[in-house]
Amino acid sequence: ELGPYSHFMQKEIHEQPKALSDTIEAVLDAGFCPALFGDRADTVLRELEGVKILACGTSYYAGLTAKYWIESIAGVLCDVEIASEYRYREAWVHPKHLVVTISQSGETLDTMEALKYAKSKGHCAALSICNVAESAIPRASELVFYTRAGAEIGVASTKAFTTQLVALFTLAVTLGKLRGRVDAAAEAGYLEALRHLPGSVQHALNLEPQIKAWSERFAPKNDALFLGRGLHYPIALEGALKLKEISYIHAEAYPAGELKHGPLALVDQNMPVVVIAPNDALLEKVKSNMQEVRARGGELFVFADLDSHFSESEGVHVIRTPRHVGVLSAVVHAIPVQLLAYHVALARGTDVDKPRNLAKSVTVE
Ligand code: M6R
Repeated sequence: ELGPYSHFMQKEIHEQPKALSDTIEAVLDAGFCPALFGDRADTVLRELEGVKILACGTSYYAGLTAKYWIESIAGVLCDVEIASEYRYREAWVHPKHLVVTISQSGETLDTMEALKYAKSKGHCAALSICNVAESAIPRASELVFYTRAGAEIGVASTKAFTTQLVALFTLAVTLGKLRGRVDAAAEAGYLEALRHLPGSVQHALNLEPQIKAWSERFAPKNDALFLGRGLHYPIALEGALKLKEISYIHAEAYPAGELKHGPLALVDQNMPVVVIAPNDALLEKVKSNMQEVRARGGELFVFADLDSHFSESEGVHVIRTPRHVGVLSAVVHAIPVQLLAYHVALARGTDVDKPRNLAKSVTVE
């Protein structure tokens, strides 16, 4: 079942080009159209005035990434909240907001209860982005987009995450089209970006030997800091979660601009700092944040792309993806942080597929 791989996590990381192609296929065939989200989607997506995303764990980080796309591409207000918080507060539910739940398993109790809570408070429509057909959350939702990642066995979510990102990107562009913000030329560009995505992810997977070489440096550490800005901030969060979950190294993620508001005090030579720094509009800002880290003796491990023009120097290690892939760069940069966590866990000898204290599907509180 594992084929040439040592663990399900490694297998599932490497299945991402296929999982993405399978998920993208319907979009490439149909273009960005409401029917991808179900028969009733046209009216719902046309009439909504905002999007409320509810999810847990890695699925929540997919939601945080989506906020950037939905607000910038579609011009639609988008709020993202952890399901276990939302379900227990006196939330104000806007009847014209679409509630979007994201769940690999479709059975996460907190996400299901958050959905029920939203429905009990307002007459809002619900869209489920889910990887398991006929599970509880899609059954309770009017609209559904099934990711086609295939069964995910490793407790650490990998291919489910990147396919969720594709689903959410598709939602953002579809909403943008319905609102007249995405014209035919822009749509063609977004389709082209999706078409190239599996290939770019494969290029990122090819970096595995270099990432493995870094893992030896992380294995003896107790803490790590992950930094990113904009669309790459949620990827930093995801990288920190993956590392905590399977290697048991304490890791935190911050938007790089927040460094000087507190976390910079943690930085010294014992704190490896991972930076997600592709060539996007915030790169220069990220570079100046990196200098702040170096000035305090922090060792930098930078995931960049060829266009970021980084060079290695004392205390600055760089791994580059072959080129900048624009709006989908966050999806490509999820790969190196997954591989880093995997190889650090291997180096520490933890149980990669079944980390202590965790379950694949969290159906209890
Ligand atoms: O099945 P779900 O997507 O609803 O699961 C949500 C989280 O429990 C899950 O993403 C968890 O954080 C993963 N173990 C992360 O790798």
